[in-house]
Amino acid sequence: MNRLVVGAQWGDEGKGKIVDILAKDVDIVVRYQGGSNAGHTVCVGDQTFILHLIPSGILHPGKICVIGNGVVVDPASFLEEKETLEKLGIDLDNRVLISQKAHLVMPYHKVLDTLKEESIRKTKIGTTKRGIGPCYVDKHARTGIRVCDMLEPDLLKSKIEHNVAEINRLLKHHNQEEFSANEIYETYLKYAQKLSPFIENTVYYLNEAWKQGKRLLFEGAQGCLLDVDFGTYPFVTSSNPTVGGLFTGTGLSHKALDRVMGVVKAYTTRVGNGPFPSELTDELGDEIRNRGSEYGATTGRPRRCGWLDLVLVKYAVMLNGMDEIAMTKIDVLDGLDEIMVCVAYELDGKRIEYVPSSLSEFGRCKPIYERFKGWEKTAGVETYDALPKEAMEYIRFIEEYLGIPVTYVSTGSKRSQIIAR
Ligand code: IMP
Repeated sequence: MNRLVVGAQWGDEGKGKIVDILAKDVDIVVRYQGGSNAGHTVCVGDQTFILHLIPSGILHPGKICVIGNGVVVDPASFLEEKETLEKLGIDLDNRVLISQKAHLVMPYHKVLDTLKEESIRKTKIGTTKRGIGPCYVDKHARTGIRVCDMLEPDLLKSKIEHNVAEINRLLKHHNQEEFSANEIYETYLKYAQKLSPFIENTVYYLNEAWKQGKRLLFEGAQGCLLDVDFGTYPFVTSSNPTVGGLFTGTGLSHKALDRVMGVVKAYTTRVGNGPFPSELTDELGDEIRNRGSEYGATTGRPRRCGWLDLVLVKYAVMLNGMDEIAMTKIDVLDGLDEIMVCVAYELDGKRIEYVPSSLSEFGRCKPIYERFKGWEKTAGVETYDALPKEAMEYIRFIEEYLGIPVTYVSTGSKRSQIIAR
């Protein structure tokens, strides 16, 4: 069975842990979008791994990890992650494949990301400044540089020269230091040497693997509400974490996907700007942030915290045809007297149960809550029957609202702290 694991909120749902758990039963783990803006945290024994670009399956010996064509690859970030993993005794040789068609994040993309954010203070997105947006802009403007271009020095040189001439005109205008095309070229030639053993035609590789009956696990990065088409635009990332991104980001057909699992945190977080109807801006929000260690895995920024918003999650269920939910971090809510869940919005005096397309309308949405009695302790619980009855009631309500089952409940950061139903 080939399964997609996708975040059903604004990212940081705990996909890394779920992928790590499911990875033991598959052959290949595949990333299909995003880049090193992602931060997938996995705790194994006493060690905590934060993976940005390499699929979380790498922590299971023998599993193949594919970085698909829809991913934007920062070679510096890849090599840094490779080195960290190797120091921990995890060998990447013959286990990681990078798509020839994936686009390269270049140094000027990162500078552009920062410049853009600084020039639009009012609608600042709060990006991770990893150059993700500008890299996808080049991809769609058809001026991007692909991984396979690195292996053709003349082509690489001319593309870099062309792009750098353009970016330098802009940098001059902003009184910023200009780039040297030659320096970038020399650096990327070195990267090409180091990356070449990993570069592969992953489109054919994955299709062949699928035909041979290999079990595939697709790891979405970010979350559905950050999707460039379906998220809270413009406060989104520049790729499609939703299911469509899997097909364009791998070259596999829809027939290769059997099941979609949404990962939902027991509450909601958001890092970066944009409307967040169920946000808690009071002490309770701070308490949840501290208990849940809600600080960005990539940027260290404090995450905004709030109650679970089921209107958003139901939208994500619909967009992706989700079959099941993995609920994470339920233990963070342990010991609260009362827990609220947003089940609808009030928009200009009317009750609505959908996510408006207009950002200003979404910004005016006030949460309508259902109240639940809190529970004592779920932390570390490993069987469903051992959960407090109030926690079971919370889960039962979520299943009923969404119309799909909660098949996993994570009760702590360790691999063993999970309930599989
Ligand atoms: P970008 O992807 O760096 O362009 O950032 C765009 C928006 O997506 C910002 O609000 C980021 O905070 C958010 N974002 C990007 N990657 C992640 C992630 O892995 N988790 C949560 N938010 C993310």
